[in-house]
Amino acid sequence: MKIFTDPIELQKHCLSWRNQGLTIGLVPTMGFLHDGHLSLIDMARASCDKLVVTLFVNPTQFGENEDLGNYPSDFDGDCAKAKAHGADLIFAPAPDAMYAPDHATWVTVPSLGTHLCGASRPVHFRGVCTVVTKLFQLVQPTTAVFGQKDWQQLAILRRMVRDLNIPVEIIGHPIVREADGLALSSRNAYLTESERAAAPAIRQGLLRLAEKIREGERDGHKATEFLTNEYASTLPMGTVDYIELVTPDSIEPVTTITSPVLAAVAIHLGKARLIDNILIEV
Ligand code: PAF
Repeated sequence: MKIFTDPIELQKHCLSWRNQGLTIGLVPTMGFLHDGHLSLIDMARASCDKLVVTLFVNPTQFGENEDLGNYPSDFDGDCAKAKAHGADLIFAPAPDAMYAPDHATWVTVPSLGTHLCGASRPVHFRGVCTVVTKLFQLVQPTTAVFGQKDWQQLAILRRMVRDLNIPVEIIGHPIVREADGLALSSRNAYLTESERAAAPAIRQGLLRLAEKIREGERDGHKATEFLTNEYASTLPMGTVDYIELVTPDSIEPVTTITSPVLAAVAIHLGKARLIDNILIEV
């Protein structure tokens, strides 16, 4: 398995693969790989000749008071895991290799970014879209795999690829969970023992909301109020960032539930901001 830190070296290598007619799968990550990432890697591995995994804590997608400085990392562990899961190449650049001091070009998909994480993290998706576009330009992947835990990210990247005619197939992988339902996340590492014990309530609340909607609740406001009350009693140590019902593809608020709806939440538990979601068919 090769390890590159230089974007130009990566690009040359990947272009030579493409010139040989090989397909390339890409799994972009911020490192500190867990089983959720590894299932994305396995999925990509199954559908391509060459597999590139990127480890890059992208500074431009973090707001000023977010956890960029504390984001967990384990470079050696990540390389060992990626290798064991069949990666051919790791790309782990330094921030200044990806962003020139006078970097001035941004990719944004504003209409899908006004709700959910886009509302509470104003620069986040601009950073994500820009770095993912750069990775696509460097790797020229035929497929790229992203997790559905970041549903809004996936919807935005799909729209970006469609609108800019980027020749890559975007694949979404279902959320990977702990046995008690907590969605895997690198940020789970911030949880204290008591926060970790409480965290499965996030998923349980979403499941109860889905049940309520399947039983006939059609009022979007009442549905979110129901989940707010659930969390107030089952997760008192959490602070809700958002609880929203949105359309799954265009991420627009749903006031009357008449078609499949995405319920998405972000909850602060101690130092961790955890997100989760559920797609509810009606
Ligand atoms: O989902 C992530 O880990 C990041 O947003 C991504 C896609 C690797 C871009 O930095």
